[in-house]
Amino acid sequence: MKGLQQKSSITILAIESSCDETACAIVRDGRTVLSNVIATQIEIHRRFGGVVPEIASRNHTLAIENVVREAMERAGVTREDIDAVAVTYGAGLLGALLVGVNFAKALAYAWHKPLFAVSHIKGHIAANYIDSALEPPYLCLLASGGHTAIVKVEDYEHIKLLAQSRDDAAGEAFDKVARVLGLPYPGGPEIQEKARDGKAAFDMPIPKSASLDDLYFSYSGLKTYVINLVHGMAQRGEEIPVCDIAASFQSAAVEQIAHGLALASDATGIKKLAIAGGVSANEELRKRLDEFAARGCEVHYPKLVYCTDNAAMIGAAAYFAIRSGAQESDLSLDAKATVPLC
Ligand code: KG4
Ligand code: ZN
Repeated sequence: MKGLQQKSSITILAIESSCDETACAIVRDGRTVLSNVIATQIEIHRRFGGVVPEIASRNHTLAIENVVREAMERAGVTREDIDAVAVTYGAGLLGALLVGVNFAKALAYAWHKPLFAVSHIKGHIAANYIDSALEPPYLCLLASGGHTAIVKVEDYEHIKLLAQSRDDAAGEAFDKVARVLGLPYPGGPEIQEKARDGKAAFDMPIPKSASLDDLYFSYSGLKTYVINLVHGMAQRGEEIPVCDIAASFQSAAVEQIAHGLALASDATGIKKLAIAGGVSANEELRKRLDEFAARGCEVHYPKLVYCTDNAAMIGAAAYFAIRSGAQESDLSLDAKATVPLC
């Protein structure tokens, strides 16, 4: 381990299997991705309208060996080139996480490499370091299927929670609204697509906090508003204006995020901002945050491929954890369905 800290360059093999993507990446020094392989199960789960945990675990088991092999081949590395193995240990679906954790433990043991456990949430945030010169401190808006939060990234290891959702996460709301509109899983990209052809004609609820002390997110009211709107129209036999509802919902969802981020930036005086998690791929959110430059802010976005689940972000997070003195895990490492946000 001491040897690892002293190395001028560290190459990490990272594994991610917390939900429905089996992923492996080879990452050098936290910012350079040598390969990034993602085997997605979206098509398998689509017919059920969402991820079925048991099916996800079984498909991770089928995919993981080839995914790891392919990541090494694409990067042109052998086991001698790998300095450490990193893996997402939580949060996520327990059975799905276990596949990645056990594979990573086996690799670390067989190859005599140190093993590092990475939180999925820190991984999403670290996606911002890939191909970028971003350095803390900054504010990060995390919006995924499981979380909506604003955190202050004080340094590479210390993250402070400033605000979070009281109910549904933003991504969860995109998925549920898509479902009621008859669009397939995952809902985010589908709503974005329909919204391009629609007008934000419906005035949807946007909770707005007045100060950082009572800043929170809430997507349950917005989701319920759309469900009631669609059911009401269906009962009256009206045609559902899917594109206009998608555009109105997306606009309200994005406005809530933008309002929260602006408030947190003004209250803390921090002008360096980043976004992370699946919803950070949203084109309207990116467009809206581009306007923050006018307030003197510098906004960082991960590349689209690093917004949704991938292993490169886990390799990036592991690198900065190692450089910050993180302890390696032993073979008793276990998967956790939930981990603290910070
Ligand atoms: O980060 P992620 O891949 O997985 C979790 O850790 O949850 O996020 C998945 C979420 C899903 O809810 C999906 O609908 C949403 O991110 N998402 C989007 C977009 N792409 C993915 N939401 C809005 N717009 C998008 N373009
Ligand atoms: Zn995720």
